[in-house]
Amino acid sequence: MKIAVLGANGQLGSDVCAAFLRNGDEVVGLTHSDLELGSASSVNEALSANLPDLVVNTAAMHHVEKCEADQVAAFTANAIGAKNVAEWAKAAGAAVAYIGTDYVFDGRKNAPYLETDATSPLNTYGISKLAGENYTAATASKYFVLRVSAIYGHQPCRAKGGLNFVELMLKLSRERDELRVVDDEIVTPTPTTQIAAQLVALSRSTAYGTYHGTAEGSCSWYEFAREIFLATGSKVRLEKAHPGEFPAKVPRPKYSVLENHALKEAQLNVYTDWREGLHEYLAARAQAQVPAS
Ligand SMILES: NC(=O)c1ccc[n+]([C@@H]2O[C@H](COP(=O)([O-])OP(=O)(O)OC[C@H]3O[C@@H](n4cnc5c(N)ncnc54)[C@H](OP(=O)(O)O)[C@@H]3O)[C@@H](O)[C@H]2O)c1
Repeated sequence: MKIAVLGANGQLGSDVCAAFLRNGDEVVGLTHSDLELGSASSVNEALSANLPDLVVNTAAMHHVEKCEADQVAAFTANAIGAKNVAEWAKAAGAAVAYIGTDYVFDGRKNAPYLETDATSPLNTYGISKLAGENYTAATASKYFVLRVSAIYGHQPCRAKGGLNFVELMLKLSRERDELRVVDDEIVTPTPTTQIAAQLVALSRSTAYGTYHGTAEGSCSWYEFAREIFLATGSKVRLEKAHPGEFPAKVPRPKYSVLENHALKEAQLNVYTDWREGLHEYLAARAQAQVPAS
């Protein structure tokens, strides 16, 4: 297959390119300098020049505070951008995969969310991404929406200034004796390599639709940090932050665990437990740091 990956130099996009290449597909990696999501003519030009069978759209404006500060820009990239991609895909007979988010939920369920649960995003980022999902589903004939959560990968996250949560914890643990991390926000940390593998698996199927696609299980950010330090033998003293110690500037769900119900029903789920994903990430990281002999 010929796959166009939007956001190809991003944290997720770079692993998506690598996974499809490993799978033997032809990959066209497109970055922000190749295409502006909010411009239909820019999207049409970049995609028509390559005529992919599948467009994987990992590109987004996803810095939550910046989305709140510039709501027009957030909607232009995340919603109108998705519409532009879906319209091109429909006209060209191509499939599209849109990366969604756990932030389409408000967290009040306090139990893993299913694809059939009602959405209720708390902030502009979540609302604009939900609009992107809806544009994708309403426009493209062949589409996947894959909602992911708390992602981390070996390439830096461009929107968040480079360091993912694992790298930030490891950096801070080298600089400080004690760290305080919030224990009242429950997520499922998900490695980008597993999301990329899931997209390859979906690309081979015609089971179009909306899927939850995160690692298995859940933890608080404090528990995630504890596992990172246990696995790396860090001696840093880790404490739970007091409620309200790090107030969020923009409302976020306190609980955003997704159940991969639809993927399991379709026998397509590739994800492992979040701890296993973390250990694989740390092993690959350690391997990359071994100096070549
Ligand atoms: N990070 C998380 O925890 C998380 C959780 C749930 C869902 N997601 C979703 O996961 C996806 C990938 O995130 P990531 O961490 O890989 O992000 P990333 O590293 O910040 O990469 C995002 C990419 O999108 C490009 N981009 C941004 N605005 C664009 C526009 N208007 N037109 C064209 N390209 C544009 C960026 O280019 P420039 O940097 O050059 O602008 C970059 O290449 C996003 O869809 C995000 O909503 C992330």
